[in-house]
Amino acid sequence: MLRLLTIIGARPQIIKAAAISRAVQNVFADKIEERILHTGQHYDTNMSQVFFDELGIPQPHYNLGVGSGSHGAQTAKMIAGIEQVLLGEQLDGIILYGDTNSTLAGAVAASKLHVPVFHIEAGLRSFNMTMPEEINRIVCDQLSNICFAPTQTAVDNLRREGFMDSPATFRDGRKRRICNCGDVMYDNSIYFASMARQHTAILQDLGLTPGKYILATIHRDNNTDSPQRLNSILQALADISRQDHIPVVLPLHPRTRKILESNPASSESAKAILVVPPASFFEINMLEQNARIVMTDSGGVQKEAFFFEKPCVILRPETEWVEIVDHGAGIIADADYNRILSAYRQLADHPVSFPHLFGDAHAAEKILQTILDYFQS
Ligand code: UD1
Repeated sequence: MLRLLTIIGARPQIIKAAAISRAVQNVFADKIEERILHTGQHYDTNMSQVFFDELGIPQPHYNLGVGSGSHGAQTAKMIAGIEQVLLGEQLDGIILYGDTNSTLAGAVAASKLHVPVFHIEAGLRSFNMTMPEEINRIVCDQLSNICFAPTQTAVDNLRREGFMDSPATFRDGRKRRICNCGDVMYDNSIYFASMARQHTAILQDLGLTPGKYILATIHRDNNTDSPQRLNSILQALADISRQDHIPVVLPLHPRTRKILESNPASSESAKAILVVPPASFFEINMLEQNARIVMTDSGGVQKEAFFFEKPCVILRPETEWVEIVDHGAGIIADADYNRILSAYRQLADHPVSFPHLFGDAHAAEKILQTILDYFQS
């Protein structure tokens, strides 16, 4: 029996972990035992527990309760806590997701103890070194025994960084591997789409008509921590809503809510927008399935919009999911008022195509089989 530790901490990781836990339970129960560690990076009920409840993820065996803090302090506490758990348990490897501080901490703690690291969502690059997530993913990829890349672009990024030819070996004598496995978020969106339709009444609750509203999300630090950028985005959303007589619904991350409360100009624009608490997975899935257009600075929401064939205005200067932009289903508008309005017009007025780019909705099974094969090779 292979014993793997899944490390989660932030909202999107809890969601990604659901696909792996489901595959362990349904397909690999006789071969893999999963242990779960929550760093406590996200701690509000609607940023964490709600996803365990809805997505059927087993409760974590460990919760480090690290909470918020500066990047260094938060990551350091996580490294120390994860190290303790790794020293106390006999584990064959750890599974990490995405690019948060919890991912970075897991990679550092495990690799120093020579515990094999399996990184899901490897190889993504924004090429913007000011993003904390870019730093986290570069370090984590370097320390990983297997980089699970969700797209061909991610594989190409790793190849460009020399991953294919690196002579580096791990303690077990093996070299780093790369696997193009598809996207576990696609697995989840497809798996949960009909359940979301059955279990949430968010459209009725908010008085929204399918196909006749815009879904927006804003949480990245470079948008929330710059009053100018946040004002510009909110002003654009408010003006689109007024001009096109279309509601904009904005489920608000606690980080953005706290900043709005202390920023009178932004909270004035927000009055024209339907601001709601952070959505559960079923709620956001439902809002994505039925939106006319999505506007977001989240990587995950960009992709989910694409899965549900919704065009997306990207409220960032660049994206890791370049396929979406290359296929014309997303337009990068950054936090620029005029670019946001023109991207919205372009996407609202012209048809867009959505080819299959993110695997076959069985990425989790492929990942677990690849890990099993790794130990048998
Ligand atoms: C983190 C990830 C980001 C991911 C996002 C998803 C890093 C560097 N960033 O950003 O990549 O897209 O999660 O949501 O790891 N807060 C609460 N309650 C919570 C959690 C956070 O109030 O449950 C507030 C706190 O004021 C905190 C702030 O949000 O300081 C930022 O939280 P943090 O975990 O540091 O980063 P996120 O912005 O959530």
